[in-house]
Amino acid sequence: MQQLSSRHLLGIKGLTPEDIELIFETADTFKEVINRPIRKVPSLRDVTIANIFFENSTRTKLSFELAEKRLSADVVNFSSSNSSVKKGETLLDTVNNILAMKVDMVVIRHSSPGAPHFLARHINANIINAGDGTHEHPTQALLDAYSIREKHGSVAGKKVAIIGDILHSRVALSNIFALQKLGADVMVCGPNTLLPKYIAHLGVKVELDVKKALQWCDVANVLRIQLERQQIKYFPSLREYALYFGINKRLLDSLDKKITIMHPGPINRGVELSSDVADSEHSIIMNQVENGVAIRMAVLYLLAGTSNEKKQVNK
Ligand code: NCD
Repeated sequence: MQQLSSRHLLGIKGLTPEDIELIFETADTFKEVINRPIRKVPSLRDVTIANIFFENSTRTKLSFELAEKRLSADVVNFSSSNSSVKKGETLLDTVNNILAMKVDMVVIRHSSPGAPHFLARHINANIINAGDGTHEHPTQALLDAYSIREKHGSVAGKKVAIIGDILHSRVALSNIFALQKLGADVMVCGPNTLLPKYIAHLGVKVELDVKKALQWCDVANVLRIQLERQQIKYFPSLREYALYFGINKRLLDSLDKKITIMHPGPINRGVELSSDVADSEHSIIMNQVENGVAIRMAVLYLLAGTSNEKKQVNK
């Protein structure tokens, strides 16, 4: 069996283009599986997976859980809001306790960048990053790139504009890495205050005018304003943001070409996207959600193939 170059998925940064291709090819097979009348395969029977979420999630958590169940894994779920974390337990103690119950893989979402990397250094389970603060969200970038490949035939040579709150977005950084590794041309667009100072050093184009960005791209990946991560005001009001950076049908109709609209969710309708765009034939947002399950099945399956001993704990 072909294997990934790492036994963890901590970020796109650590993947090779060959790893990404292998994940896509494996996801093709699983996409076919989840569209069959019997949507389950026994591939991860006897593998126990803990989903530990220290931050809110709808899509990602459901998608991982469905992927795990479609692969016949045993699944336990943990969310920090109703756990002993509230009583002062450390991250390592929490996870070691879960691992003492013989868990093989840990899917973690945490508000601190690097939390999954910390776990990977200290515990002997496969770690999958489901979003670490403003840092990376690798499975989201994989499913985004996979959805572009599905819609446009390939990612190489495509022009992709990532539009919105780049500064606070883990989806943006993982997308930049993934798209570049696959040979796409990447642009970021948003208010100057929401673009990291050194973003151009990542080799992306930078554009402040959303119409110019849309006119340039084949695909626009539109991001939410991450208000929960903003301690200061980066723009005067959401209304003003929607006026200057919101994408609506009138704006799309004013372009001289058709482009594909993506969004990782959750959408703030009427802010970054109007409903007549989010629900239009331009949008592949629901395809992204469907592909998320196939991509996560592929990642879990391939990482399970890299595990050596099923041991717990560190030191
Ligand atoms: C994203 C996230 O949590 O980083 N959503 C997701 O995983 N589908 C983006 C967001 O919250 O805006």
